[in-house]
Amino acid sequence: MTSHWQRLRDHHAEIKDHRIADMLENPSRAAEFSARHGEMLFDFSKTGIDVKGLAMLLELAQSADVAAKRDAMFAGAQINETEGRAVLHTALRNLQADVVVDGENVMPEVRATHARMAAFARDVREGKIAGQGGTYTDVVNIGIGGSDLGPAMAYTALTPYTDGPRCHFVSNVDGAHIHDTLRGLNPETTLVIVASKTFTTIETMTNAQTAKAWMAQKVTDPAAQFAAVSTSADKTAAFGIDAARVFGFEDWVGGRYSVWGPIGLSLMLAVGPAGFDDFLAGGADMDAHFRQAAPAHNLPVLLALIGIWHNQICGHATRAVLPYAQRLARLPAYLQQLEMESNGKRVSMDGADLTEHSGPVVWGEPGTNGQHAFYQLIHQGTRVIPCEFIMTREGHEPELAHQHLLLVANCLAQSEALMRGRSLAEATKIMAAKGLTGAELDRQARHRVFPGNRPSTTLAIPKLTPFTLGQIVAVYEHRVFVEGVILGLNSFDQWGVELGKELAVALQPILERRASAEDKDGSTRMLVDYLMAPPNG
Ligand code: F6P
Repeated sequence: MTSHWQRLRDHHAEIKDHRIADMLENPSRAAEFSARHGEMLFDFSKTGIDVKGLAMLLELAQSADVAAKRDAMFAGAQINETEGRAVLHTALRNLQADVVVDGENVMPEVRATHARMAAFARDVREGKIAGQGGTYTDVVNIGIGGSDLGPAMAYTALTPYTDGPRCHFVSNVDGAHIHDTLRGLNPETTLVIVASKTFTTIETMTNAQTAKAWMAQKVTDPAAQFAAVSTSADKTAAFGIDAARVFGFEDWVGGRYSVWGPIGLSLMLAVGPAGFDDFLAGGADMDAHFRQAAPAHNLPVLLALIGIWHNQICGHATRAVLPYAQRLARLPAYLQQLEMESNGKRVSMDGADLTEHSGPVVWGEPGTNGQHAFYQLIHQGTRVIPCEFIMTREGHEPELAHQHLLLVANCLAQSEALMRGRSLAEATKIMAAKGLTGAELDRQARHRVFPGNRPSTTLAIPKLTPFTLGQIVAVYEHRVFVEGVILGLNSFDQWGVELGKELAVALQPILERRASAEDKDGSTRMLVDYLMAPPNG
C-alpha cells in the first residue's frame, strides 16, 4: 500500500502546478473525466487529476481490495469488526433479495417490518389511526444523529411529494428545541415518534418524557399517541408504547445508515408508502451500480478516489458540499454525520495508528446562499477547499423556471470561476478601464486577483425526486465505504462519541449540587461556578 501512496504523492508533486483550465483545452477531457449512471452525471474534469493520476488512484483502490470488501458487505459478513456486526443497511432497500446473516435469512423480518410500517402509514394518513382529536395533522419525530438527520433531510428534500401530516424534528436536548416545536401544535392531533436505535440516548429519552408530559395535559391516554422506532423492544415497552406501534430493526443497521428502514417512518408518513418505496428504489439502483460498474465508471468509487486525492494526497483538509437546490439544505449536515462519524478515526481496523489522515471535514450550505457568505474564502482564501456542487436540470415550479435557470447558471459560474480565476493582468486591465493608474491601480488590482485552479466536482441529476434522492444518499454512503476501505479503518463504529457522553453523565450531579466538582480541572470548575452562580449574582 505504502508504495501506492508514495507514488501518488510523487505524481502530485510533479503535476500540482498544472492548470485545470489548460487541461480542459483537451476536447475529450470532460468526457474522459466524468461518469454517468442512468441520468446522473458526475463531472470531475475540473479537478487537477490527470490520466496517470486517475490510473494510480484506481490501482490504489484495487490494492485495497475494495471490490472484495464491497461484496463481503453486501453478503452480510461481519465487516464492522470492532462491534462484531454485519453492515446491511442495503438490505433495507432491496426487499426482494434474500440476505443470510449468521446462517439466518434476515429478509422475512425486514419485509414484515416494512409491511407493518406501510400499513401504519396508510392508516394514519387515511385517519383510520387517529389521535384523541381526530386525524393526525402533525408528527413529531424525536431522535438525534442518525435517528434525526436522515428523515429530517429527506423530508425537506421531498417537500413537493409530501401529502401527509406535517413533520417536525426534535433532536437537541436544549429544551428550547422541543418547546418551540410543540408550541404551535395541538396535542390531540399530534403523533410522536420516538426514534432511537438504542432507546437510551439521553437527549431523545429526555425529549420523549417532555413530549409525554405535554401530551398528558390534554390527552387522556398519551402513550396511545406515541410510536417508537428502536432495536430495543423491552425499553419501548417500559416507556409504555404498545408493541403494535413499535418498529424494530437489527443491530446491523448503523444509526447514520438507518433512514431506509423504520427510522424513515416520519418520511413515509409524509410522502406515503409508494413515495418511500421510490426512495428505496433509488438507493437499490445505486447499490446495483456500485456492485456492477467497473471502477473507472463507478460513481461511488470515483467520488471516493477524488476525495482521497484532495484530502490525503493534496492535503486539503476540508471539502464543501454545495447543493444548488434549496430543498437539499440539510444534506451537508446529513453528510457531516455520515462522513465524519464514519471516517473520523485515528486507527486502522487492527488498532495500529493510521498511516494517512482520516476523512475530511465536511461542511456546506445551499447555493446561492453560500455565495453571499463564505465563497469569498473559497475563491481568495489562502487554503484550497475542494468544492462538490450538486445541481438539478429541472425544478418543481414550472412557473418559476426562470429562477431555476438563474440558480444553475450560478452553479456553473462558480465552478468556472474557481477553475479560471482572474490574473493580475486581467484585474489590472479592468481597473485601468475604470480610470485607476499608478500605485493605486496596482493595489486595487491585487485585491481583485483570483488565483483560480481550485478544484470542484459537479453531480448533476435530472430532478430531485424520491428516486434520485435515494441515489444521492446511497452514492455518498458507498463513497464513505470505499474511502474507509482504502484508509483501512472501520467506517461503522463511533467510539469517538463515547467519552463526552460519559463525562456529561458525571457532570449532571455536579450541576444539580448533588456532587462536588473538586476532582475537576480548574477550567471546568470555573465554568461550573459560573453556571451555578445565582442569576445577576
Ligand atoms: O452520536 C452517536 C450516535 O450513536 C449516532 O451514531 C446515532 O445516530 C445517534 O447517536 C443516536 O443514537 P440512537 O438512535 O441510539 O438514539
